[in-house]
Amino acid sequence: MSKSALITGVTGQDGSYLAELLLAKGYTVHGLVRRSSSFNTERIDHIYQGPQEANRSLVLHHADLSDGVALVNLLRDLQPDEVYNLGAQSHVRVSFDAPLYTGDVTGLGALRLLEAVRASGISTRVYQASSSEMFGAAPPPQNESTPFHPRSPYGCAKVFGYWSTVNYREAYGMFAVNGILFNHESPRRGETFVTRKITRAVARIQAGLQDRLYLGNLDAVRDWGYAPEYVDAMWRMLQRDEPDDYVVATGEPATVRQFVETAFAHAGLEWAEYVRYDPKYERPSEVDALIGDASKAHDLLGWKASVKVEELARIMVDADIQHVSDQLAGATVRIDR
Ligand code: NAP
Ligand code: GDD
Repeated sequence: MSKSALITGVTGQDGSYLAELLLAKGYTVHGLVRRSSSFNTERIDHIYQGPQEANRSLVLHHADLSDGVALVNLLRDLQPDEVYNLGAQSHVRVSFDAPLYTGDVTGLGALRLLEAVRASGISTRVYQASSSEMFGAAPPPQNESTPFHPRSPYGCAKVFGYWSTVNYREAYGMFAVNGILFNHESPRRGETFVTRKITRAVARIQAGLQDRLYLGNLDAVRDWGYAPEYVDAMWRMLQRDEPDDYVVATGEPATVRQFVETAFAHAGLEWAEYVRYDPKYERPSEVDALIGDASKAHDLLGWKASVKVEELARIMVDADIQHVSDQLAGATVRIDR
């Protein structure tokens, strides 16, 4: 019997890579999709299977992390072996503008899902997408023992989701784990996160479609890895004999400025000619430096990052240059091209 999994956030960056990974492993994958007034499945269009297809291995279901009853019904019907909670309002800057919504979906949403697993009486393993943003002001390097000091409504919501997951493990013996993932990017990254905003601008500037890139704090330090490698770590956590929490990171720091320099240089452009400061992109409270220590994931999961920040920037610039070129040629554009 092949395994089955439910992924919330299947239409997001990580959800799309995780769905690909699980399908390749022979899983039946169920994806939770929230209702939108326009198509929101672009990242999974290449693996989409229509409702009329026989023996589908990817099945999408409409629901929402704000609707606990829908979650109970879905889990009771599907009884998946594994649940990956990747759904969230995941933008840190936006969480300052929509704090209650972020708390509801990103924080309470995690608890709703855990309670739905418990209420539906099924035996399933749960992965919670926790975040290095929970460390916030705690000085680097950060590992599983570092105390949390969140600096945004998003970070606070993720701390709530983290402790809810630990609590359901301790209180009910649930196999529930936290992956504390540091920033991870790809050509499928949302266009308003800083790496993709930069690589997309590089491609458009090179093509003559844009002449300025406005950014906020260039001094922030992040530990940027490659998303397809990070979803593999998620899967490994759920294959262990015992549930536990793991940091997933490259361990290599870079400033936003360094990412900008690498991305522009890869396209033969001098970044200072194009990049301008706009305070609009500053946060009311910033996370200055995130640098992860993923020794535990290395030792217990056999996981290690291989793509580091400079290669990552080049992968993303190349993909965005191809993307712009396809658009200009009027070709049908695939998301990871
Ligand atoms: P993403 O691209 O922003 O995807 C978020 C997903 O959540 C999308 O599928 C989105 O649907 C869905 N979603 C939003 N609101 C929802 C709701 N009310 N009900 C159900 N689904 C909802 O995020 P990502 O980068 O793939 O990250 C995946 C998870 O890991 C998130 O929980 C994020 O907070 C966490 N995380 C990410 C990173 C990182 O660096 N990428 C690091 C640590 C933790 P739409 O497509 O319709 O918007
Ligand atoms: N988005 C954005 N836009 N960020 C900018 C900009 C800009 O124009 N200019 C500078 N930055 C700085 C931010 O202030 C921040 O310090 C850094 O770039 C990274 O910002 P984001 O790419 O938006 O990511 P994030 O670190 O805030 O959050 C991401 O990583 C978390 C894990 O640490 C998100 O993916 C979260 O969902 C995730 O949990």
